[in-house]
Amino acid sequence: LEEPGIHGIVDAFAAAARRALDAGFQIVEIHSAHGYLLHEFLSPLSNQRADCYGGSFENRTRVLLQVVRAVRGVWPEDLPVFVRISATDWIEGGWDLAESTELARQLKPLGVDLIDCSSGGLVPNVKIPVGPGFQVPFAPVIRRDAKVLTGAVGMIHTAQQADAIVDEGKADVVFLARELLRDPYFPLHAATELNRTTSWPVQYLRPAPEGSTPR
Ligand SMILES: Cc1cc2nc3c(=O)[nH]c(=O)nc-3n(C[C@H](O)[C@H](O)[C@H](O)COP(=O)(O)O)c2cc1C
Repeated sequence: LEEPGIHGIVDAFAAAARRALDAGFQIVEIHSAHGYLLHEFLSPLSNQRADCYGGSFENRTRVLLQVVRAVRGVWPEDLPVFVRISATDWIEGGWDLAESTELARQLKPLGVDLIDCSSGGLVPNVKIPVGPGFQVPFAPVIRRDAKVLTGAVGMIHTAQQADAIVDEGKADVVFLARELLRDPYFPLHAATELNRTTSWPVQYLRPAPEGSTPR
């Protein structure tokens, strides 16, 4: 991948963000995790380049910073940009939490509103301590040390678990994947379980018949 190719990729991210805006999305998340291209640039294990995109931390993070600037250039100021990272490669000599924190520090002034703290995906067969909330500990460290909003993700299954993560200040939001596949109504069920009010999808709303008690 030569430099003109890299510039083309940066432009393609910006064009994708523009399409997302046109399609009506209100948040855009730049995927720099899970072994995808931007993560491959970040990690010293996959990034073997000898030019200004490889070697030092500054060089390995260069393309992501360029992507963020390009996306921010087309994305309205009042709408949020998230960046998903793998906070660690889970292996000695790989991308780690300290580098993630420094990256987050640098992304915030470029207009990144939230760091979505995932992990892994670059190196196969690494030992990952998979279990409830196993990736949650990354979010509070990055939140505290980079002073940026963070999201926690990974085996967050229950309303109480999700609520505690936000309530205890470990993260500003939680992201769910498989629990939402198991129970697409999880947010409504969680709100009921936690005695919170929430809004129903507008498509479900019907005017109540006159004289009836709305339910
Ligand atoms: C069917 C499926 C598809 C997924 N696709 C993506 C994806 O495209 N991009 C991504 O960043 N993560 C993807 N993930 C990972 C989830 O976003 C999430 O990080 C992961 O499943 C851990 O959260 P969970 O324990 O709540 O499922 C996917 C997960 C599942 C189950």
